Amino acid sequence: MIRFKENNYNKLFVNVSDFIRLICGGDRLKRITNIINDLLKKEYLKKNKQLKILDYGCGSMEISKKLETKNYIKSIVGSDIFKHSFKSKKLTYVNNERLFKENEKFDVIFMVDVLHHVGISDAYKVLNKLSKLSKIIIIKDHFEHGFVSRQLLRFVDFYANYGYGVNVPKKYFNENIWKKTLIKSNSREVYRKNSFQQHDGLFNLILNKKHHFVSMIKIYE
Ligand SMILES: C[S@@+](CC[C@H](N)C(=O)[O-])C[C@H]1O[C@@H](n2cnc3c(N)ncnc32)[C@H](O)[C@@H]1O
Repeated sequence: MIRFKENNYNKLFVNVSDFIRLICGGDRLKRITNIINDLLKKEYLKKNKQLKILDYGCGSMEISKKLETKNYIKSIVGSDIFKHSFKSKKLTYVNNERLFKENEKFDVIFMVDVLHHVGISDAYKVLNKLSKLSKIIIIKDHFEHGFVSRQLLRFVDFYANYGYGVNVPKKYFNENIWKKTLIKSNSREVYRKNSFQQHDGLFNLILNKKHHFVSMIKIYE
């Protein structure tokens, strides 16, 4: 994904923040990619065929780029709100508008740190739209645990998405709101990992694992 409105000030901020991330345990992709890989592999073994995957809200497609070399992957479509073109052997980018127009079906959808940007009260609407494309959706998102925890999440979201033009939410999911979202999206949870450790070092101290969860849902037919 291209950072919007790039100028020297932004570039300096981005370079400094990337350096801080590197030395303070801020690699967010390693464990996320591993857990998604494990869940996808289980689906592959169940279905006994290579999987067609949708990475919804893919950003710069870093997770999909790591997954596309796996032999259980047939193809991955990355989709997001911006216009962009990308194609590799197994990976293609389409924007959301085209995605929903084309109505292509997928074995599994995954969405990492996307739903809270959509807005927690509208999350079920996106899940309902996605349920037309696949009956299995893997979601990585955040749980807030009170006022301080919410402000921490907002701060980290601002820091992580600076320059991308991504909306920083006012509220995040909690257990109760998440359960209601699942009911409204006509789905049931078949897997949940609470307290998912995303970072190491200082990053893990600032935003500890209780703020991250991974869920796999199945849409009722
Ligand atoms: C924190 S980034 C995560 C990117 C990627 N999933 C990852 O984990 O590296 C959030 C992404 O959600 C996307 N996004 C925000 N609202 C969206 C929507 N309504 N539909 C699809 N993607 C959306 C943003 O454009 C952004 O790329």
